[in-house]
Amino acid sequence: MKMAYKKVIFFAVIVCYFGISGLVLAGLAVHWKTSKASPEQPVKYSHNLHVNTVGLGCTDCHIYTDKSVHAGLPALEICMDCHSSVAIEKPEIRKLLKYSELKEQVPWRRVYQLPDFVYFSHKRHVKKGVDCSECHGEIKAMDTARKIGSLEMGWCVNCHRKMGAPTDCVTCHK
Ligand code: HEC
Ligand code: HEC
Ligand code: HEC
Ligand code: HEC
Ligand code: HEC
Repeated sequence: MKMAYKKVIFFAVIVCYFGISGLVLAGLAVHWKTSKASPEQPVKYSHNLHVNTVGLGCTDCHIYTDKSVHAGLPALEICMDCHSSVAIEKPEIRKLLKYSELKEQVPWRRVYQLPDFVYFSHKRHVKKGVDCSECHGEIKAMDTARKIGSLEMGWCVNCHRKMGAPTDCVTCHK
C-alpha cells in the first residue's frame, strides 16, 4: 500500500518533469521559428507606414521585381530621397544618416531565401500577374517583413499545378 503510493508520487514527478521540459522545448521551438520568420532588423522600418500612410508602392523600393530574377532590397539612396530631410531628428532616421555618412548600405537581414540549387524568377511571376501577397502575405500590414509560407518545393509545385505552370524538374533545378 505504501509502495503503491510512492509509485504514484514517483510517476507524478516524472510526468511533471517531462511535461514542463516539453513545454519549455515547445516554447523554444516556437521562439526559434518566429525569430527566424521575422529577423531583428538594424533599423525599425515599417511597411505599414510607408505603404499605407506615405503611399509608396512595392516597386518604388523593390525596383527590380518586374525586371529581374531578384526583387532587390532598397538601396539607402532611395530612403535618403526623403530622409535627408524627413524626420531627421528621430533616432531611427539618425541611424540612416549615419550609414549614409559612412557610405554604407543598411545591413538588412534576409527573410526569404531559397537554397542555391533552386532557380526562381520574380519577373516571370510578376509579369504573369501573380500578386506579391500570394507569396509574401500582407506585407503592407506589417512593420518589417515576416515570413509567410514555407518556400518548400511542394508549395511551388502546388501553385504551378493549379495555375497550369510547368512542373518538370528542370523548371526550378537547372
Ligand atoms: C517618399 C518618402 C519616403 C521614403 C522614400 C522613405 N520614407 Fe521613411 N518615412 C517617410 C515619412 C513621411 C515618415 C513619417 C515621418 C514622421 O513620422 O515624422 C517616415 C518614417 C520613417 C521611419 C520612422 C521614424 C520614426 O521613428 O518615427 C523610419 C525608421 C523610416 N521612415 C525608414 C525608412 C527607410 C529605411 C526607407 C528606405 C527603405 C524609407 N524610410 C524611405 C517618408 C519616406
Ligand atoms: C511566386 C511567388 C512570389 C511572388 C509573386 C513574389 N515573390 Fe518576392 N520572393 C519570392 C521568393 C521565393 C523569394 C526568395 C528568392 C531567393 O532566395 O532567391 C523572394 C524574395 C523577395 C525579396 C528579397 C530580395 C530578393 O530579391 O530576393 C523581396 C524584397 C521580395 N521578394 C519582394 C517581392 C515583391 C515586392 C513582390 C511583388 C511585386 C514579390 N516579391 C512577388 C517569391 C515571390
Ligand atoms: C519605402 C521602401 C519600401 C516599400 C514601399 C516596400 N518595401 Fe518591402 N522592404 C523594404 C525594406 C527596407 C526591407 C528590409 C527590411 C524588412 O525585411 O522588412 C523590405 C523587405 C521586404 C521583404 C522581405 C525581403 C527578404 O529579406 O526576403 C519583402 C517580401 C517585401 N519587402 C515586400 C514588399 C511588398 C509586397 C511591398 C508593397 C506592399 C513592399 N515591400 C514595399 C522597403 C520597402
Ligand atoms: C502563387 C503561385 C505560384 C507560386 C507559389 C510559385 N509559382 Fe512559379 N510560376 C507561377 C506561374 C503562374 C508561372 C507561369 C509564368 C509564365 O507563364 O510566364 C510560374 C513560372 C515559374 C518559372 C518559369 C517557368 C518557365 O516557363 O520556365 C519558374 C522557374 C518558377 N515559376 C519557379 C518557382 C519556384 C522555385 C517557386 C517556389 C519557390 C514558385 N515558382 C512558386 C506561379 C507560382
Ligand atoms: C516549381 C519549382 C520546383 C519544381 C518543378 C521542382 N522542384 Fe525540387 N525544389 C524546389 C524548391 C523550392 C526546393 C527547396 C526546398 C527547401 O528548401 O525546402 C526543392 C528541393 C529539391 C530537392 C532537395 C530536397 C530537400 O529536401 O532538400 C530535390 C532532391 C528536388 N527538389 C528534386 C526535384 C525533382 C526530382 C523534381 C521533378 C520531379 C523537382 N524537384 C521539381 C522547387 C521545385
